[in-house]
Amino acid sequence: MKYLVYVSQANRPFKSQDLEDLLAVSRRNNKRDSITGLLIYRFNEGFGRGNFLQVIEGPKAAIDGLWKDLSADQRHHTIIILDEGETQDRMFSDWSMGFRNFEDGDFRDYPGFAELGSDDFWAKAEQKALPGAFDALCSFYQNS
Ligand SMILES: Cc1cc2nc3c(=O)[nH]c(=O)nc-3n(C[C@H](O)[C@H](O)[C@H](O)COP(=O)(O)O)c2cc1C
Repeated sequence: MKYLVYVSQANRPFKSQDLEDLLAVSRRNNKRDSITGLLIYRFNEGFGRGNFLQVIEGPKAAIDGLWKDLSADQRHHTIIILDEGETQDRMFSDWSMGFRNFEDGDFRDYPGFAELGSDDFWAKAEQKALPGAFDALCSFYQNS
């Protein structure tokens, strides 16, 4: 099993319908391919940007296949991998793709992530200076 965590910038602000459409396709495909995970969308008002933070986990071949599509998807850009690795057990086993539309303070206990989408956040992401992404996402699953 493999997992991968990335952040990206939406190419435009996503409306509820855009997010629902994206999730419907993702959940259908992920069930078929034994992929689970969590997708977070946050529109950062201060910086006028929509941002995605996503973890995907599943069989290596399935993750590699999804990554090929995801990284070529024109709906987002500036895609940065924050963490990836091998795992024995799934962390998000009940979610073919959990979703959360984020608000300020949702990650207040995770330094670096509280200001998801700010210039400072993106500077840190580019320098690979955002440890703890996987833990932050797992904490959401456990507290839900
Ligand atoms: C932020 C973001 C997250 C996505 N997450 C998934 C996902 O978890 N699973 C998935 O199958 N597609 C996901 N997609 C869509 C893929 O990039 C691609 O459009 C889709 O897999 C194509 O599916 P289709 O071949 O069934 O049309 C995501 C796209 C974006 C922009």
